[in-house]
Amino acid sequence: MRRLLPGPAELDDAGLVEAYRLPPGRSLRVNFVASLDGAVTVDGRSGGLGSPGDERVFRLLRALSDAVLVGSGTASAEGYRPITADSAVGRLRVELGRPATAPVVVVSRRASLAPDDRLVAGAVSPTVLITTGTADPGRRAALAEAGVRVLVCGEDDVDLPLALDRLAGLGLDQVLCEGGPQLFRAALRAGVVDDLALSMAPSLVGPAGARLLGGELADVVPLELRQVLEEDGMLFTRYGVRAAR
Ligand SMILES: NC(=O)c1ccc[n+]([C@@H]2O[C@H](COP(=O)([O-])OP(=O)(O)OC[C@H]3O[C@@H](n4cnc5c(N)ncnc54)[C@H](OP(=O)(O)O)[C@@H]3O)[C@@H](O)[C@H]2O)c1
Repeated sequence: MRRLLPGPAELDDAGLVEAYRLPPGRSLRVNFVASLDGAVTVDGRSGGLGSPGDERVFRLLRALSDAVLVGSGTASAEGYRPITADSAVGRLRVELGRPATAPVVVVSRRASLAPDDRLVAGAVSPTVLITTGTADPGRRAALAEAGVRVLVCGEDDVDLPLALDRLAGLGLDQVLCEGGPQLFRAALRAGVVDDLALSMAPSLVGPAGARLLGGELADVVPLELRQVLEEDGMLFTRYGVRAAR
């Protein structure tokens, strides 16, 4: 992988780690892969846009994070599983001197995670569900009973700043959000996104399928370009998110 900005350089594994390492302290980083025209799915999933380099960055961002935050739509569409010690991410985490596993945190207004979901059974770091007071109490109780850590953050809507405070209270400071588009939009509107890692695939997809943002923003969100890497025509950008709402 080569760095185009700041300062051209060839990046080895250690260089790539440093390119994505965040300073200590709380942060919310969002990671997406998108086509040049802003599509984030091909046939309903992100895989059709990926590349070996994107897979490396995806794994590295997981390895550097304390928790992986995801909307229930993405968890379901992409078949999310817990991060295990014997996975590529688990091994990379250990190489980087970090605990082998990290929790997946699912955001769902309706608590729409099934107690027999793969994210529920077999999670060494228990899966966290961030939901609302209006979610069915029976379902919340069943998930808690099955080992999910259920956090109620907000009554009708998930209060994302509160959710991130609650995660920080559990020692989960550096949170990686893997989307999807609805959750990304909500996080931007709430002003909680610090860093956007956007892999731009050298492809055009057209209007079918999901776009990067699941709906309108109240205002333009200005971004600050921090880094551009390249491999096989895929651009790996990092933007600082300065303003919100
Ligand atoms: N290319 C990429 O990098 C990439 C990344 C991620 C996802 N994707 C794709 O995007 C698609 C999924 O899109 P999506 O917009 O449905 O994804 P999503 O944001 O992951 O899921 C939407 C669901 O998550 C919950 N949710 C999201 N934001 C919430 C909030 N602020 N408060 C409460 N609940 C919230 C709600 O769940 P409940 O309905 O359960 O209440 C909502 O229906 C999939 O096809 C996936 O493959 C692509």
